[in-house]
Amino acid sequence: MKKITVLSVFLLTATCLIFSCKKDTTPSTDPCVGVSISINTTQSAPTTGQSNGTITVSATPNGNYTYSINNGAYQSSNIFNNLAAGTYTIKAKNADGCLSSNSTVTLIAINPCNGVNIVITPTTTYADVCPTANNGSITIAASGSTGFQYSKDGGATFQSSNVFSNLATGSYPIVVKDLNGCSNSQSVTISPNPGGVKFNLVRNLMIARCGSCHFNGNANGSVNFDDKCNIVTKWDRINIRCVVQGTMPPTPLTTAEKQTITDWVNAGHRYID
Ligand code: HEC
Repeated sequence: MKKITVLSVFLLTATCLIFSCKKDTTPSTDPCVGVSISINTTQSAPTTGQSNGTITVSATPNGNYTYSINNGAYQSSNIFNNLAAGTYTIKAKNADGCLSSNSTVTLIAINPCNGVNIVITPTTTYADVCPTANNGSITIAASGSTGFQYSKDGGATFQSSNVFSNLATGSYPIVVKDLNGCSNSQSVTISPNPGGVKFNLVRNLMIARCGSCHFNGNANGSVNFDDKCNIVTKWDRINIRCVVQGTMPPTPLTTAEKQTITDWVNAGHRYID
């Protein structure tokens, strides 16, 4: 009995030496053998100059996947956000660690301003003079897009209202931008109030009849009318000397010229009358 056992051990050992009888390693234990993962992507393009593109990944067959972009860490979300224009490599990995093949996605930026033509149509009101007041206004009608915001300082600051008020005379670099930041600009001028009709009739009359002595730097009797506001503040002296007394100018005004002054005085003798 002992002899047989010894012989068996010997035979087995010999057999193993000859045929190399190791423990069989097949079938394989690699869970990825025969597994083929494919991925599809959908994308939304970023806006030019912004990182707001998105790539959404779906892997098949159905399973529990994690996803990587540009060989970065795997994440459980299948959505990659905040992407700038560029080319990205996407991979999916299943629960067993089996990888999909790479998917290359190129995001091409879209310029939302292409074809957008914002038309600016301003209307203005004057700033007053005599006395000077910062009461001009600009109202902007804009068309060609939506979600407008308005600036009167060249785009440094914007407001949602299309009306700027309390403005002094001068030029304002108006900028209108839409919801995507597409913009157009236009210089808009607040002019000084040009004065009322009656006032200007009186002023023109005075330039013609008082010019040599009270305009162009001349100030007979310490009176100069180059500044329009001096006509307004001295309205009563003009009325008294030219209409009531008729002692000024040296060559008296005609009845029609006096009436022009009277009409202005009766209207309120203001710059805007
Ligand atoms: C040829 C020169 C001359 C012309 C033209 C003339 N003035 Fe005079 N003006 C004078 C002189 C000189 C004085 C100062 C003496 C005086 O007060 O009479 C004077 C003074 C005045 C005064 C200041 C005195 C006051 O009463 O307050 C007023 C106002 C005046 N002129 C208005 C007019 C007006 C308005 C006209 C035009 C419609 C006019 N003058 C045209 C020479 C002129």
